[in-house]
Amino acid sequence: MSLHITIVPASSRAGRETILVLLESKERPFIRGIYRDPSKAPAEFTKQPNFEAVKGDVDTGTGLDFSGSDAVLYVPPPTYDGTDQGQFATQAATNVEKALRAAPNIKKLVLHSALGAQYNHGIGTLKLNHISDHILKSAAPEVLIVKPGYYFEDWTSALETMQEDPPSFRWPIHPADHAIPMVSVKDVGAYCASALISSAAGTSAPPLPLRYVEIFGPRNYSALDVKKTIEEITGKEGTLITVEKEGLADYFAQGGIPREYVQDYVEMFVAMRPGGIMAGDFEYKETTVRGGIELDEVFRELAGK
Ligand SMILES: NC(=O)c1ccc[n+]([C@@H]2O[C@H](COP(=O)([O-])OP(=O)(O)OC[C@H]3O[C@@H](n4cnc5c(N)ncnc54)[C@H](OP(=O)(O)O)[C@@H]3O)[C@@H](O)[C@H]2O)c1
Repeated sequence: MSLHITIVPASSRAGRETILVLLESKERPFIRGIYRDPSKAPAEFTKQPNFEAVKGDVDTGTGLDFSGSDAVLYVPPPTYDGTDQGQFATQAATNVEKALRAAPNIKKLVLHSALGAQYNHGIGTLKLNHISDHILKSAAPEVLIVKPGYYFEDWTSALETMQEDPPSFRWPIHPADHAIPMVSVKDVGAYCASALISSAAGTSAPPLPLRYVEIFGPRNYSALDVKKTIEEITGKEGTLITVEKEGLADYFAQGGIPREYVQDYVEMFVAMRPGGIMAGDFEYKETTVRGGIELDEVFRELAGK
């Protein structure tokens, strides 16, 4: 019998990249993608006979049907509707936990988390991941927690403003040469897909104990690396402005972060600066997976060059 895998939310960027890899895999698992709005499932997925899009919501807990699944990927979604991020995380993870415990076939949960999620304070919006990890760490026979660095794909705004006149971009981490782990969400999806496939379905292999892996890109990147990469792609020299701590609240508010979450974003980015609570977590370790996709590959694709 083929492996049955559920992805929730299937609309998350990591979920979507994971599905793309699963659909191409030689194992040909059956994939259930849970969407708040299944009509958003891409046609390239729904036309495949081994994919189904079903309606579900981690906040209300409706539609979280993991029955028949061997493995589940959960990507805790951030909320932007004004609800307290911690309350939302608790409710959503509790709903996912209930659904996992109600599904007798589940062998493995792959839980998308974040760097810094081990801290119970000082990480701002990453409390979402701290809480989800805590609630779900024993919710399936085998649990693998993946902690990616910052997605390269989040920096489309820098690419855009570097093509304006005059070219410039702002970066919320100071100083400009402070390198942080960054990774392509495609590498994250590829890793999650392989972890889901190796969920020992149909074998008598015992489940592995709780594991954490970090997923970084080929190297760490600073604002100066980002500037150089974009300048090479656009052929235009630009100005880099690193935002000082005092300017971060305005930076995020102007970037569209709802007022209720601005301080959480400030705290998360202060945590990544030199001396911040996360600054000691940026070394590659034995448990670090090194992705192969470079920053310039992602930016070239985003820029259509
Ligand atoms: N972005 C990064 O660089 C990064 C790096 C490391 C870790 N992370 C972690 O990755 C996770 C995803 O963050 P993201 O910002 O990148 O989000 P995302 O994957 O871009 O989006 C999450 C998706 O979840 C769906 N969703 C929202 N509320 C839902 C609900 N109640 N039930 C079901 N689906 C729901 C939304 O789709 P619809 O609106 O279509 O329903 C949304 O597209 C977070 O836990 C974050 O901390 C992110």
